[in-house]
Amino acid sequence: MSIVERFDPDSLGPEPVDPEIRVLREDDPETEVLRAAGWSVVGESWGARLHLPPDGDAQDAALGPCLQAVVEAARAGWRIEQLGPQDAARIADLDADCADDYPWTPATGHDVPDPEILGRRLRDGWSAFGAFRRDGDPDVADAPGDDDWYDSDPDAPLSAVTVVSEHPDRVETEFTATHPDARHQGLATAVKAESILSLAAQGHRVFGTGGAAVNEGSLRANLRLGYVLEPRWLSWRAPAPPAPATARAGRGSSPTER
Ligand SMILES: CC(C)(COP(=O)(O)OP(=O)(O)OC[C@H]1O[C@@H](n2cnc3c(N)ncnc32)[C@H](O)[C@@H]1OP(=O)(O)O)[C@@H](O)C(=O)NCCC(=O)NCCS
Repeated sequence: MSIVERFDPDSLGPEPVDPEIRVLREDDPETEVLRAAGWSVVGESWGARLHLPPDGDAQDAALGPCLQAVVEAARAGWRIEQLGPQDAARIADLDADCADDYPWTPATGHDVPDPEILGRRLRDGWSAFGAFRRDGDPDVADAPGDDDWYDSDPDAPLSAVTVVSEHPDRVETEFTATHPDARHQGLATAVKAESILSLAAQGHRVFGTGGAAVNEGSLRANLRLGYVLEPRWLSWRAPAPPAPATARAGRGSSPTER
């Protein structure tokens, strides 16, 4: 999930930001002020951007790794396709199956989306892309012109998903999750790749993403697709307040001595 989005009121889910925590980019001069005041780093996260050339061969080359990731997944027997509002419940179910595996930092918490809210967002500027096993699922993309939504078989198991939101300056990944039984098969990479290909075809040129430093799988998937890391984000915690001075134990000072 995006580092910046966590503090965006439009982002999905509650944002319980601890007032004792501040999240700053590592190059923010304020970090030295916090360090001098005794604050300590309690979390590290990364943000990354993918800037596509406006068009032409350069853009094709930049999209090459995305195309390759989708083709590899298809060859391995996966169907990668755009999802729609009608898929909100199964996206939320899949995300719930993965919820315990999201690494937590003060800047990268994640809440399983409410299907109703997610469905509304998918009607209104958000997009989702999923991976399905082909076995036992003969459903294919519906005819073009059907609101551009694919007609997904409601019974097909959804194995991976990425959800992205459109902003004036970029397309931002909200979250990506692969079912524990389907990991390490390139699916997170493939669904993210499909999101980039699809939104690039709609004219988007800047993509943002981010995650906890410890989330190596997420980081590697994004680097493979051409995202470039930005300076890290550090979560700083305020020093513990000094312990209150012990009250002088005078006669009558204790409530038990009344
Ligand atoms: C992170 C997550 C989405 C990766 O899904 P996945 O489908 O297994 O990822 P992929 O198979 O596409 O692998 C992507 C890359 O990361 C590597 N990788 C995957 N999981 C890894 C792990 N736990 N540790 C280290 N590397 C890992 C893969 O080898 C691959 O690297 P490569 O391209 O250099 O070969 C999945 O582990 C997950 O759902 N985690 C819980 C939710 C989460 O943390 N989401 C991301 C934050 S929004």
